[in-house]
Amino acid sequence: MVDMDKIVSLCKRRGFIFQSSEIYGGLGSAWDYGPLGVEFKNNVKRLWWRDNVHLRDDMVGLDAAITMHPKVWEASGHVAGFSDPFTGCGACGRHYRADQIFDAIWNSRWFRALNKMLEGPAAKKDEWRAIWNWADSEAKKLAPNFLAARSPNMPTNMEVTGFPFEGAEDGRYKRFLANLASVGAKGNRTMDVLCPNCGAAQMSEPRPASLMLETFLGPVRETAIKTYLRPETAQGTFVNFDNVLQASRKKLPFGIAQMGKSFRNEITPGNFTFRTREFEQMEIEFFVMPGTDEEWHQRWIDERFAWYQKYGIRQENIRLREHEKDELAFYAKRCVDVEYLFPMGWSELEGIANRADYDLKQHSQYSGKALEYFDEENKQKLIPYVIEPAAGADRSTLAFLVDAYHEEEVKGEKRVVLRFHPEIAPTKIAVLPLLKKYDRIVETAKRLTADLRKRWFTVYDDTASIGRLYRRQDEVGTPYCVTVDVQTVGDEKAPADDQVTIRDRDTMQQVRVALSSLETVMAKLMEGEWTEVYRDHGVSKE
Ligand code: GAP
Repeated sequence: MVDMDKIVSLCKRRGFIFQSSEIYGGLGSAWDYGPLGVEFKNNVKRLWWRDNVHLRDDMVGLDAAITMHPKVWEASGHVAGFSDPFTGCGACGRHYRADQIFDAIWNSRWFRALNKMLEGPAAKKDEWRAIWNWADSEAKKLAPNFLAARSPNMPTNMEVTGFPFEGAEDGRYKRFLANLASVGAKGNRTMDVLCPNCGAAQMSEPRPASLMLETFLGPVRETAIKTYLRPETAQGTFVNFDNVLQASRKKLPFGIAQMGKSFRNEITPGNFTFRTREFEQMEIEFFVMPGTDEEWHQRWIDERFAWYQKYGIRQENIRLREHEKDELAFYAKRCVDVEYLFPMGWSELEGIANRADYDLKQHSQYSGKALEYFDEENKQKLIPYVIEPAAGADRSTLAFLVDAYHEEEVKGEKRVVLRFHPEIAPTKIAVLPLLKKYDRIVETAKRLTADLRKRWFTVYDDTASIGRLYRRQDEVGTPYCVTVDVQTVGDEKAPADDQVTIRDRDTMQQVRVALSSLETVMAKLMEGEWTEVYRDHGVSKE
């Protein structure tokens, strides 16, 4: 699995994703999509919309406002209960999700360095002496407050302290961290958690923190309406249920899909774009007859699981996880997460919940407007049940990026290649002139670029040698390069053959095709038909 640092660095270098407000020191909780990133994320969103809205008879779209009436958030339960427990470090002041503190320790710089050291020869010889030496050297930089709290002498009794270490999978480290905690606490055996940032053993008792981001509508604060930036798109859908029903004349079962920005005052944003305070969601509220909800829920679980794989996520990196009874939201009948194996471990990509009739009932009660459906067959009013496949556009984009990342050796050199599915690749085609000083080649290549652009996002590049240009396109996942050379346009020795070379990113194989059939061949290639095209036109490999 690729390291997240490599992904972050590639994203910055090649213009996928930049840190927000970087020239001011950056904002850790927000990211900006650069020239390639915006194309890439737009492709993910476009495919989600196409597959879930345009290709279905039972779905319509909606784009609700981000700011809504404050009562919406009372009715939905967000004002009272949308919070996470947090704990703060008394030494460095950092805050963490209390329920994720062990993951935070696990992924902290000091703990990772410690793990690395433990794999080395010194630790194999005498583990505790190696730890002690490490604490006196590298740890001083990485976990300064752990050091300040440590006992002056190497302790002799290192038995497990009964440290409650849920979430860690490896017993060895569990034991080890427990011991560290006891060292850090200078013999205080009730002290159980070390700060992921500084190593101090001064984490506070967990308390709830609201995730709602307040905002004020109106020029004068005293009279302004206090509301919230929406924490999910779903409520905009529920409050519009009757509007959409009346306007679209849909019959159950039917869904309303929505994509858009949501905001949460996350305690610990992090892991690149995985958890941010501003993010985009792609949510479906699918309304069904009560009694058919369980079957529809399962259908959506299967469908959404297959969707990610259709666009390239490898089977071994994706799984479904059923929520335990005690982690279900109080209104949910059942919830299943689609999880992806991100560099920091298995994490939620999408949640698919059976929300029963909770939301429509709540909004009916708080607004006084009945949000019901008239069942013609049984001549009765009812409140539909809701199945909600709720995905994140940023998380999906990140998963597609991580999954596509490959490093390999070609002719003794490292090749970084993003093996994107053609439909999500930001750039579909790169047109490359073999000689940039040869006018006829450049003219033809530019004309070709303009023609291809009408159907596929195509770039022209002549700023390096052909080998380098190929590598550049590999690194941003462009599935096909089209090269225009002397043979294409002819010279004094030979007439033009009016053919170009198409080079496939994944196999690096090349085919030679007539300019007149380029568009037809490209259309085939975008469907993933390389093998067939290579059989008919194949010439060589780069
Ligand atoms: N309406 C239901 C709902 O919002 P959720 O599981 O809280 O459910 C749905 O959010 C999806 O939105 C998540 O699976 C994730 O992909 C995305 N998401 C949620 N919080 C996020 C955050 N802080 N940063 C990035 N994506 C987030």
